[in-house]
Amino acid sequence: MHKKIAVLSGDGIGPEVVSEAIKVLNSVSEKFGHTFEYEHALVGAIAIDKTGDPLPDETLKVCTSSDAVLFGAIGDPKYDNNPDAKVRPEQGLLALRKSLNLFSNIRPVKAYDSLIDRSPLKEDRISGTDFVIYRELTGGIYFGEKTLSEDGKTASDLCLYTQSEIERIAHMAFKAARKRRNKMTLIDKANVLESSRLWRRVVTELHQSDYADVDLDFLFVDNAAMQMILNPAQFDVILTENMFGDIISDEGSVIGGSIGLLASASIGGQYAMFEPIHGSFPQGTGKGIANPIATILSAAMMLDHFSLNQEAEAVRTAVDKALQNGVCTPEINAGGQYTTSDVGDYISKSIT
Ligand code: IPM
Ligand code: MG
Repeated sequence: MHKKIAVLSGDGIGPEVVSEAIKVLNSVSEKFGHTFEYEHALVGAIAIDKTGDPLPDETLKVCTSSDAVLFGAIGDPKYDNNPDAKVRPEQGLLALRKSLNLFSNIRPVKAYDSLIDRSPLKEDRISGTDFVIYRELTGGIYFGEKTLSEDGKTASDLCLYTQSEIERIAHMAFKAARKRRNKMTLIDKANVLESSRLWRRVVTELHQSDYADVDLDFLFVDNAAMQMILNPAQFDVILTENMFGDIISDEGSVIGGSIGLLASASIGGQYAMFEPIHGSFPQGTGKGIANPIATILSAAMMLDHFSLNQEAEAVRTAVDKALQNGVCTPEINAGGQYTTSDVGDYISKSIT
């Protein structure tokens, strides 16, 4: 199989973790006889520095002419504490999601047996946790109209959803539940928000008409945030809107013991992008301490997207082997002294 992959490494540790994922993809292509062709393009703070634009047209062209996008991380502290900045690196990622219509963000969360003692949560709470978050990614408060009054004293962000935006991701989440443990939880704030009441109505109707075989339940987001810590193993597929999904997926990362393990896929009608859920970790940049596993597992999700399921499984097995043998970056194995590239080397050599 021949595939063209747009590589958007971005800022901070982005380039370091992406190059380990490419190492692993190259090992897959060698072992399984595929050709992956990579085209690199700028995004985020580095793109602002070089072109003034966090998502240059050229980058978008590279993405739309590729079979998939592999994304690293974006963000730079010089923008974080400056609310007056006119352009921000994050705008590049948001524009990319919107331009490629990547409406469904899929984030698997798992408690690895080999790392169970690394989580700050008690073992008996998190053991057996294995769920996946379907986060709506191109609507809601992230993309609704924003206003700031002339005097700078009043601001607003509109949270807007349409029935069709809810339906298209709900279809994907229901189908995913059928392939898993057949359970779906809609997380919303329907006791307060009109947009959440629309989510509940649309999802309930779709359930009755097309997916009555799937167990469906509902949680308010505040309760869900608590349940995710108290009893995370109860979840199978979680469906939620953009902002709630952003928040609960960082919360979910605590279960696995490191945010450096969480992968994601962003899927739309035509395009697909794969990225770790962590940020650009500026303090860790260039030190060889960034965990490449989230990006490597994102590359595995990309292989699944190409229907290369055996290859994806080979990557996941190699990752498990690294975790079991303690070949991990310092946030997981402080005494192991393995660098970002040691972990990538070990995983790519373990592909069979
Ligand atoms: C994420 C990130 C982004 C988001 C930021 C970087 C804009 O936190 O992918 O979860 O809020 O969606
Ligand atoms: Mg986030």
